[in-house]
Amino acid sequence: MKISVAYIASTALCTTYRRSLSHHSINKVTSLRFTSYRKTVNMHSITAAFKPDASGAPPKQLEYIPSLKLSDGHEIPMLGYGLGTANYKTGADKGKFNQKVVDDTAMAIKAGYFHLDGAESYGNEEELGAAIKKAGVPRDKLFVTTKTNCKQGESIETAFVRSLEKLGLDYVDLYLIHRPFWAKSPAEQQAKWAEMEAIKESGRAKSIGVSNYLQEHLEPILQTAKHPPVINQIEYHPYLQHGGLLDFHKQHKIAVAAYGPLTAVTKAKPGSCDAIYDQLAKKYGVTEGDIALRWCLDQGIVTLTTSGNEQRLQGYMRKIPSFKLTPKEVEDIAEAGKQKHFRGFYTTNYGPDDRR
Ligand SMILES: NC(=O)c1ccc[n+]([C@@H]2O[C@H](COP(=O)([O-])OP(=O)(O)OC[C@H]3O[C@@H](n4cnc5c(N)ncnc54)[C@H](OP(=O)(O)O)[C@@H]3O)[C@@H](O)[C@H]2O)c1
Repeated sequence: MKISVAYIASTALCTTYRRSLSHHSINKVTSLRFTSYRKTVNMHSITAAFKPDASGAPPKQLEYIPSLKLSDGHEIPMLGYGLGTANYKTGADKGKFNQKVVDDTAMAIKAGYFHLDGAESYGNEEELGAAIKKAGVPRDKLFVTTKTNCKQGESIETAFVRSLEKLGLDYVDLYLIHRPFWAKSPAEQQAKWAEMEAIKESGRAKSIGVSNYLQEHLEPILQTAKHPPVINQIEYHPYLQHGGLLDFHKQHKIAVAAYGPLTAVTKAKPGSCDAIYDQLAKKYGVTEGDIALRWCLDQGIVTLTTSGNEQRLQGYMRKIPSFKLTPKEVEDIAEAGKQKHFRGFYTTNYGPDDRR
């Protein structure tokens, strides 16, 4: 499979999140942090040491993390902080307010992560709302996502109102159907999507989309949609590249958001990408994690990570804007990744060798 050139080109459509920030007065602390990131990048930039070679187009380097324009005209910051996985409430924690999630998320916002990926099933929408208040960044500077479980017998309207109440917000930037597995038929997918469209038309969700959808789940929705899904949030890393799904997205102007982008440098190690990640990390003077995130971003893919480690989060903000992989490096990682298959999520819904 060739890495989609259109996805690489689509980064050109990305508009500057920083530019939109500079038009507004941001919370002073956060503003200072942004300024200091830019200075850090300028003063300690590794770009001076990097010489593009003949193997790929010269990297276009931006000293900030851009936003991507969705097909409905709204913009989504390309690097997001997730409230799932490490922050997910399970077992006895469910129903208990978790101050650590508030503190970690507020720390991430102050570190410059203005795209916040939540979900009803993470059990921490209240903590996300509290973190937004604690961080003090104006609501209109943030991009807040939540997701519905599509519980049987419950309307999307009911689920959405509950989420807004927990978040303490009067709108979200993006509302997603979390998974397709609940639907017994294409007609059920279409009916739920019509309910999602009603939420968008009410103005309480600026954009609507899906998560964990395959082509076979998207097709029925696209047949009847007035407002097609603008994004599909999927597990995406070199060991799970999904065959033709990304090309299908491109044909239908559906953006991709990657979760689990660090999989090849964390839980799927050792693997066939180890050598190239190591080599590129040394070449650019960054961590393998930075390379893994950049690999997604350089394909025009919105990238979701998470961490309770402030230094790690600050490191991504500082390093990622300071380099860019060449198209050949992006392709080399993709090729190396095809030597291994690994899926970290929804493994009971897919067969062990299902690479879609
Ligand atoms: N739609 C869905 O069904 C779905 C499913 C899964 C996830 N998501 C979303 O995507 C977000 C990110 O997913 P993810 O957590 O899988 O992303 P990820 O970026 O692949 O992994 C982040 C995790 O890796 C750990 N990590 C980072 N660098 C490491 C290193 N060098 N060694 C060991 N561990 C390291 C972090 O722990 P530290 O705290 O130590 O940094 C953190 O727990 C979630 O929070 C959620 O919002 C959505």
